[in-house]
Amino acid sequence: MNPLFKRILRKDKLSRVFVERLTEPLHINIASAFVALFGGFRRKVDFDLVVRPQYAFPILRAADLANEWGYKRLTLLEFGVAAGAGLVNICHIAAEVTKITGIEFRIVGFDTGTGMPEPIDYRDLPEAYAAGDFPMDHEKLKASLPANCELILGPITETLPAFLKTVDASSPIGFASVDVDYYSSAKDSLSVFRDTPEKYLPLVPIYLDDVGDITVNPWVGEWLAVNEFNDENKMRKIAPWNMLRARRICKNAKWIEHIHGLHVHDHAIRTPGTTERARRTADNEFIGVSFTDQAA
Ligand SMILES: C[S@@+](CC[C@H](N)C(=O)[O-])C[C@H]1O[C@@H](n2cnc3c(N)ncnc32)[C@H](O)[C@@H]1O
Repeated sequence: MNPLFKRILRKDKLSRVFVERLTEPLHINIASAFVALFGGFRRKVDFDLVVRPQYAFPILRAADLANEWGYKRLTLLEFGVAAGAGLVNICHIAAEVTKITGIEFRIVGFDTGTGMPEPIDYRDLPEAYAAGDFPMDHEKLKASLPANCELILGPITETLPAFLKTVDASSPIGFASVDVDYYSSAKDSLSVFRDTPEKYLPLVPIYLDDVGDITVNPWVGEWLAVNEFNDENKMRKIAPWNMLRARRICKNAKWIEHIHGLHVHDHAIRTPGTTERARRTADNEFIGVSFTDQAA
């Protein structure tokens, strides 16, 4: 069975179809049916018709930004892999995105390999998660991953420093999913964004899985980890992706709230006078002034 339909038939996914999808205007759902049957990958991403749109949108966006800013390869990260459904999904999406953008990918998943560690205190939401949750069959998972995907096992604090040494401007970090449930693990994961600026796209789309749990708030969980990251890093800021709901066709989707951006304010591309680019112009059709025509 097509993986999209298989996923939709799961109970939690079915309720999402009813709450988020069927409440969209009728013409959007009719158009979606045509796109599902005849549309290309980009159009399917536009209409949320790809498994895990929360990964498809930011990976495609990162590839488009990479082309705009002159990169050929990006590194995609998943913090928190569990059984690996998300990591395998990133690999599939990345392969499709390469076909339509030309951007190649290195994909890296981080996990203990033995499930959740012990929570440190109330900030790790012990009411929702406990040590040993989310086991992994790492032999089977590793065997199913494509050559451009690595699985790095161990506590993130221990594995991150060696990984960061392998990242450079030839394949900067272009996307990260942070799905490690605890405040402490999210804080460890976000330290991936504290290295030198050339290791990142100037704007990195991030998927924050755990900002929507009902017991999360600015003082606990992933939300606290993000606030502390912003307080501790003068030139790096994580903020919600600007105007995303207004820009999406399917406006009821919950995943939109999870998409953030890491702004690398100390990146060369975001520093005045360090990069060359074509002059931007604005025409005025009311008085017959066109800089576009002059440039042609
Ligand atoms: C909710 S699961 C991830 C689910 C996965 N992203 C998916 O979509 O299928 C959370 C994972 O985070 C991992 N994790 C949590 N804290 C960690 C830490 N400090 N170091 C490494 N892995 C950690 C756990 O082992 C667990 O597998």
